[in-house]
Amino acid sequence: MKKWSQFYTPPELANLLLDSIADKYTPTNVVDICAGSCNLISAAAQRWPNAKLFGSDIEKVSHKLIGHNTIPINKIDATDTKKIISTYKRKRKKIVLANPPFGYYKSLFKPSIPSHLKKLYNVSERVNRIECEILISNLSILNKGDYFAAILPENIFTGEKMEEFRLILYNFFEELVVKTHSIKFEKTEVLTRILTGIYNPKIKNKLSAINQDFTKNEQNIFQVIRGIDNSILMDKSKKKSNIKVLHFNNLNGDLLQTKTVAYNKKYESKFVAKNDILIFRVGRNAGKIFIPDNRHIGHPPSDLLLILKEAKKLGKRRLRNLEIHLQEKRKGLTSKYISKRDVLNSLNEVTVPNT
Ligand SMILES: C[S@@+](CC[C@H](N)C(=O)[O-])C[C@H]1O[C@@H](n2cnc3c(N)ncnc32)[C@H](O)[C@@H]1O
Repeated sequence: MKKWSQFYTPPELANLLLDSIADKYTPTNVVDICAGSCNLISAAAQRWPNAKLFGSDIEKVSHKLIGHNTIPINKIDATDTKKIISTYKRKRKKIVLANPPFGYYKSLFKPSIPSHLKKLYNVSERVNRIECEILISNLSILNKGDYFAAILPENIFTGEKMEEFRLILYNFFEELVVKTHSIKFEKTEVLTRILTGIYNPKIKNKLSAINQDFTKNEQNIFQVIRGIDNSILMDKSKKKSNIKVLHFNNLNGDLLQTKTVAYNKKYESKFVAKNDILIFRVGRNAGKIFIPDNRHIGHPPSDLLLILKEAKKLGKRRLRNLEIHLQEKRKGLTSKYISKRDVLNSLNEVTVPNT
């Protein structure tokens, strides 16, 4: 059996989740159906000392002392939606906190799913993930106006296979916010995001509007940016206002030709920063990773290269794995290439474990 106790919510992340909730909001009840160490419930108890606290978990957690209150943690399987609904649905003006377990999961039973969640459930069956199944249990206890605040794996927000699932999910909430952060779980490399919103199943967000909002809201730490279009580059120019462009496709990072381009504010996002890495986009080294040094930092690359912002934070081991996944995605019969989408997909593969 998996030792879930290794994956409790880090207190720092619990606090970040609670800090993401609007100041004006005060719940009467707090619920966590995967309560574990009760770090989420404890953070909520500090924020709202008068709220009533409720939690359950598949493992025995016994009674948990929070401040002066002891709260009973019942043993309930969160995938048992019938039991979850009868225990929690009636709690009024509640916030449901969630940090479900993550991993592959094949359900042995068909849970009884409320009709408004059937579509989401059917989509989740294609991906066989425990976090999706438990997320649906969380949704099943929300009433209109209840708050939902969850820590969920990155893959839900960026995975190609998860697109339909996330678009249906987003449609259940008003004031939906998704935030990236860099707090890690002990002993895992898994990346997570925070989702908060007010439950309103009748809301009909326009999906295109949701997507646009996301690109605006997201401070995506692992953004992939393409270098400056080769066709507008000039050979070394005497014009002072021109800026140097990194145009190379060798693994030593030697600039074989000095290329420049007329300065434009829009190129500023393409300047290589200290924590960024470069990925060869085309040619025989397509998919290989290049770690920039002082020769490269502060200059934009040409579109022979992609910039993966902040990627040094992934660490050497995951960068090596990223390169392996990228190599597998190379396309093209003669000249090889990879796309931005390939980088995002490979990133999911190295940051979200399958087990
Ligand atoms: C990522 S931890 C989150 C813990 C908790 N929020 C905290 O503050 O530490 C996931 C928790 O889900 C529990 N869990 C795993 N499968 C479950 C299931 N089917 N039903 C209920 N809880 C489950 C684990 O025992 C673990 O405590």
